[in-house]
Amino acid sequence: MVLEEIKNRRSVRSYQEREIPEEVLLRVLEAVRLAPSARNRQPWKFVIVQDKELIQEVAGASPLYGNPQTFMASAPIIIAGCATNTEHIMPNGVPSYPIDLAIALDHLTLQATKEGLGTCWIGAFDQNKVKALLGVPENMKIVCLMPLGYPKTVTATKRSRKPLEDIICYNQYQE
Ligand SMILES: Cc1cc2nc3c(=O)[nH]c(=O)nc-3n(C[C@H](O)[C@H](O)[C@H](O)COP(=O)(O)O)c2cc1C
Repeated sequence: MVLEEIKNRRSVRSYQEREIPEEVLLRVLEAVRLAPSARNRQPWKFVIVQDKELIQEVAGASPLYGNPQTFMASAPIIIAGCATNTEHIMPNGVPSYPIDLAIALDHLTLQATKEGLGTCWIGAFDQNKVKALLGVPENMKIVCLMPLGYPKTVTATKRSRKPLEDIICYNQYQE
């Protein structure tokens, strides 16, 4: 049941050295592949970074409020979700690529959770530096990075989320 994975997923910021078996990785990537996208354009490419030195360098190029996110380097894999085209605007005036990439990466987080793996969304990174490290073409955009690995510590932290009544209204918008 997908709600199970949604409830169990947490941002994981500490990983075991343990490698991810290929069949497990392929199931996670299959969940990515099947994601929907605007007009089914699938405007994406996912760079699976497995090279340890490169992982270190990507982590080094991902500071959060000035501090390097060193935890990223403990993961055996970092996935870079790249938008291959950033031009498409939906009829509603909203660019589609961040949505498309977010859906695909969210599929990733949920299948990873089902496989006992941990992930963490990473939006704090230097776009140009990481692009250069991974050879991503200039006209593309890396939307988010995502370390993937077996969690070192499983802490069932309490969810800090707004209550349902604050985020839902019926028929008419209400403050
Ligand atoms: C788009 C996006 C970017 C994020 N960037 C970072 C990041 O750079 N570093 C980090 O440690 N967490 C990052 N996070 C994780 C959030 O802080 C986290 O999802 C939020 O606090 C809720 O916690 P949870 O994921 O454990 O439910 C990001 C999350 C999202 C959705």
